[in-house]
Amino acid sequence: MRMLSTSPRLEACVNKLRPNGIPEGSTFAASKRTHAAMSTITSTKVHNYSAGPCILPQEVFQKASQAVLDFEGSGLSILEMSHRSKPIEGVMSKAQALVKELLGAPEHYQVVFLGGGASLGFHMVPQNYLKQGGKSAYANTGEWATRAIQEAKLAGETLVVASSEDKNFNYIPKGFEIPSDADYFHFTSNNTIFGTQYKAFPKSAVPVVCDMSSDIFSKVVNVDNLALIYAGAQKNMGPAGTTVYLFDPEKLGHTGRKLSPMLDLKNHGAKDSMYNTPPVFAIYVSMLTLEWIKANGGVAEAEQRNNAKAKLLYNAIDALPLFEGTTAVEDRSAMNATFILKDAALEPAFNALWKAAGINGLPGHRSVGGYRASMYNALSIESVQVLVDVMNDFSNKNG
Ligand SMILES: Cc1ncc(COP(=O)(O)O)c(C=O)c1O
Repeated sequence: MRMLSTSPRLEACVNKLRPNGIPEGSTFAASKRTHAAMSTITSTKVHNYSAGPCILPQEVFQKASQAVLDFEGSGLSILEMSHRSKPIEGVMSKAQALVKELLGAPEHYQVVFLGGGASLGFHMVPQNYLKQGGKSAYANTGEWATRAIQEAKLAGETLVVASSEDKNFNYIPKGFEIPSDADYFHFTSNNTIFGTQYKAFPKSAVPVVCDMSSDIFSKVVNVDNLALIYAGAQKNMGPAGTTVYLFDPEKLGHTGRKLSPMLDLKNHGAKDSMYNTPPVFAIYVSMLTLEWIKANGGVAEAEQRNNAKAKLLYNAIDALPLFEGTTAVEDRSAMNATFILKDAALEPAFNALWKAAGINGLPGHRSVGGYRASMYNALSIESVQVLVDVMNDFSNKNG
């Protein structure tokens, strides 16, 4: 890769991220090939802004790689071990305990890790919380909330009590009422595609259910007010392949529905997430990531780091006249910052520059366009600085 930018600061940042052992002066692309040829564990090669699957901590990759070869000196790969074996039961209970500890969940809450993605969660929520002949309430803040609503409608009466669809989901609705006779209320805490995020969670006397797929473990939340949090692992927690459900078991089993055991959260809780074969490796990598979060100060410190990263990038978006944020300022997501170049004709030149700086995954979601910088927990502020330097460089040349 050729450095198109001449900014010394930018160059320094990129060099800092280069894998060890790469000869001075070689191009970044050549470095990658050299590195791929090495059979040792690689280090992070690029500033990864992907929306999910996404960046995870480097040490997690290293430990996970080791476990594939030989799990904790057992002579077995973690991929060939029974989920009923003691070591894997240990992984499961450690992952469950870390979820509760990091989120500050009440003692009696349960944690299960299931397959099927958060999209299966869209289906499981009405199955587990909607009474026969009852109704649910939803807030619609984007694509994922819309899909959750579609699933709820298949199960019964569904009220959309708040929506930002009128402005292409560029804000978070506020001041709406949640009917007291709804069986539950569902919202999506972070709108991964459009880049908005609830700064305060809605409260209600009815069970509140939250899809936290794209901001779980990124900020402190009050779990006591939530009947269920569910989240696909592949943003702040681990690889794709498992979805975590953290729930109050006392709020389950009141619907009068007959459920398949595979859709029944109470069943999965009672069987300690081992009703069927769980996605062991995805849970193990999640456990490693949760250990990493804990070792780095827990969720409170992750939140501070995430706020600092978001401030750095949004300040640049606001300060540079070529760029424009696409969401209401007060609802901006600290996880997914969406922005555009006011003059779309400049996009090819900007794209060449950030690619040359070793940045990956910056284009916006295919349904939206523009740019989306996903700044999950494992993305360093140094990586955000590289993007900001690219934007400054680009503005100096084209402003
Ligand atoms: C907020 C949110 N909910 C749900 C989903 C769907 O997750 P999955 O692909 O695991 O079904 C996504 C995917 O990005 C998401 O961002």
